[in-house]
Amino acid sequence: MTLSRRAILKVSGAAAVAAATGGRTPSAAQDTGGAQGGSWEWVRGLFELSPDTVHMSAMLLSSHPRPVREAIEEHRRELDVDPVRYLERNNTALTDAARKAAGDYLAIHPSHVALTDSTTMGVGLIYTGMKLKPGQELLTTQNDYYVTHESLRLAAERTGARVRSITLFNRADEASEDQIISRILDAVRPNTRLLALTWVHSSTGLKIPVSTVAAALREVNAARDEEDHVLLGVDAVHGFGIEDTNFLQIGCDFYMAGCHKWLFGPRGTGIAAISKRGLSAVRPSVPSFTDDAVFSAWLQNMERPAGDNNGMRMTPGGFKPFEHRWALAEAFALHEQIGRGRIAERTHDLAGALKEALGELPGVMVHTPRDSRLSAGIVSFDVDGMSPQAVVSRLRAQDIIASVSPYATPHVRLTPSIRNNEEDIDRVAVALRGIA
Ligand SMILES: Cc1ncc(COP(=O)(O)O)c(C=O)c1O
Repeated sequence: MTLSRRAILKVSGAAAVAAATGGRTPSAAQDTGGAQGGSWEWVRGLFELSPDTVHMSAMLLSSHPRPVREAIEEHRRELDVDPVRYLERNNTALTDAARKAAGDYLAIHPSHVALTDSTTMGVGLIYTGMKLKPGQELLTTQNDYYVTHESLRLAAERTGARVRSITLFNRADEASEDQIISRILDAVRPNTRLLALTWVHSSTGLKIPVSTVAAALREVNAARDEEDHVLLGVDAVHGFGIEDTNFLQIGCDFYMAGCHKWLFGPRGTGIAAISKRGLSAVRPSVPSFTDDAVFSAWLQNMERPAGDNNGMRMTPGGFKPFEHRWALAEAFALHEQIGRGRIAERTHDLAGALKEALGELPGVMVHTPRDSRLSAGIVSFDVDGMSPQAVVSRLRAQDIIASVSPYATPHVRLTPSIRNNEEDIDRVAVALRGIA
């Protein structure tokens, strides 16, 4: 076999959806329950999750849905049979297809997309790769995650830039968009070069109004030279695959996300989307295998091209678990097939129902805002008189997968997604009534 049928479809520009589901999974593609993009039961059936367990863990690690699983399996088989020749025949086309699928999803040219292994890799590469001057400031918030804080600390250590961290709100459940924006604007200083935020906080589930922040920064930047612009970096992982928006609508400079959470893409895949301005503000840290200009310059013992940085150059090189990277296109295709608007609505509906159910339980304190403009799929809470770990253990004993947020102040998290249904919400509510 030379180029796989799947690859030929992609290379010839056929719709990604057809490549993902047409023909290959006829039973899945036909059994859509009648609704456009598939019934929710059909979506649930794409996953091989243990049926007796309530899996509210989409924010941690994906289970592969059928089209992704099958694509991985096809590539794995071929790689095991003839690794070198299968790679040589397919790598360029399939890697380009994965990058293009991410670009299409985010409405950005593929050359602005770096392929990474995770959110963490993207955030680390971007922030530690920033061209910073001593005295410049990296602004973040106390609500951000370890991955952002540690990347900024390492960036500062390398460059002499300084990190400053502000508090955006006192209580997530009482936060408002106006308060968040005004705290950010009050904190920006003339030497602030980066504002590093997390779109949806994995501690409280609060969603930052990130496009409003970007619009506010555009006004700040209008009065600055381009080299002093405040760039906006976003750990987007808990909005990516949920919210029906894209890179352009958000308006940030750096958008980093793992594809192995809410997008239900292959484990060990991620993306970093970078604006034009962002590309000139960062440099790669790991040699690229997907930027021909740099590689050929090296082959010819020539000076490496300066300027014109791009997503291919920002993509860390080295040989990869290619079967996973190449199956990324199927994850985006499935998402489009189900329908981005439907996924956003479903995730918000289930999270809303869960918050409502938890809110009725005495002894349960929900931290996530009820307002869907300030929340997404993460539902964070505490139970009076119990540690989050104890609550999670009690839930696990009933086959309900929740997790403890790995923060100085931990909370319990449940994360309903398109893999869940109303019965799952009921089961969680009943279990917590018995615990709280
Ligand atoms: C906000 C946030 N960023 C990054 C990560 C890590 O993501 P990844 O596994 O894609 O590196 C997590 C949790 O897993 C998270 O909650």
